[in-house]
Amino acid sequence: MSYQLLKGKKGIIFGALNEKSIAWKIAEQAYEQGARFTLSNAPVALRFGEINELAKKCDSIVIPADATNMEGINKVFTESMEFLGGKVDFVLHSIGMSLNVRKGNVYNDLNYAYFQKTLDVSALSFHKLLQTAYKLDAINDWGSVVALSYVAAQRTLYGYNDMADAKSLLESIARSFGYIYGREKKVRVNTISQSPTPTTAGSGVKGFGSLLDFTERMSPLGNATADDCANYCITMFSDLTKKVTMQNLYHDGGFSSMGMSLRAMTQYDKSFDNCDD
Ligand SMILES: NC(=O)c1ccc[n+]([C@@H]2O[C@H](COP(=O)([O-])OP(=O)(O)OC[C@H]3O[C@@H](n4cnc5c(N)ncnc54)[C@H](O)[C@@H]3O)[C@@H](O)[C@H]2O)c1
Repeated sequence: MSYQLLKGKKGIIFGALNEKSIAWKIAEQAYEQGARFTLSNAPVALRFGEINELAKKCDSIVIPADATNMEGINKVFTESMEFLGGKVDFVLHSIGMSLNVRKGNVYNDLNYAYFQKTLDVSALSFHKLLQTAYKLDAINDWGSVVALSYVAAQRTLYGYNDMADAKSLLESIARSFGYIYGREKKVRVNTISQSPTPTTAGSGVKGFGSLLDFTERMSPLGNATADDCANYCITMFSDLTKKVTMQNLYHDGGFSSMGMSLRAMTQYDKSFDNCDD
């Protein structure tokens, strides 16, 4: 439903690859809520993804850039301001990638070149976006920047690998930069810690199907979908959340506060029925 929550607002959305992407749903919802924005993704993603279709649907343009490259990021902000006719009000960082996860390297046998790449793509890129925006003075007062995170930043979840370290760093950058950006320009910076979601990046995590099932059962409200995440993100871009900054906001149906549920305990008891020891 359109409440026109983002009417008159302009933004930049990084990370829509295909229809499953969380950023794709956020772009659709932002358009529905009256925003104008540009889209960006890595040049390689443009070849494999379907982002041009999304741009057409949302009266937007695609500005290709590798989010680890300062020149590319600079171009995204400069060209976005040209296209949108001025500074932006919101920025979405929806970028993550681990070559260690992709290649099946376990956490106690990491390739360090890949590890550095994980941190660069999935966390430092957020600092690079913020620093570029800050230097170009590209975000209006009371603007909102959101990056997507995961509870593995706080808790150990099997298979999430070096992405857990990247998410910890991502959330720390939101706090450290959020302080400066808030103090100097009244721009707010937050991370949304989203439920496991069946996207291209998500499905690459080892044992993802079981994890999805586990969190669905453990969360009193069930997993938050990509569409749910889009709704939440829109409120974070809107003027309704003007005083929220430097936060990691759980959006996970309650999972992050759970320890043991009735359903899990019942299952746990059953699983010992046939045990000898
Ligand atoms: N899917 C999940 O279970 C889940 C849960 C919590 C948080 N997240 C986070 O949500 C964000 C979006 O992921 P998604 O699940 O929508 O998957 P996705 O695969 O659709 O999106 C990941 C995006 O990162 C982009 N990317 C990778 N390397 C890049 C680079 N060098 N420069 C620019 N872009 C690059 C990809 O092209 C892709 O568009 C990620 O930060 C991810 O960690 C995902």
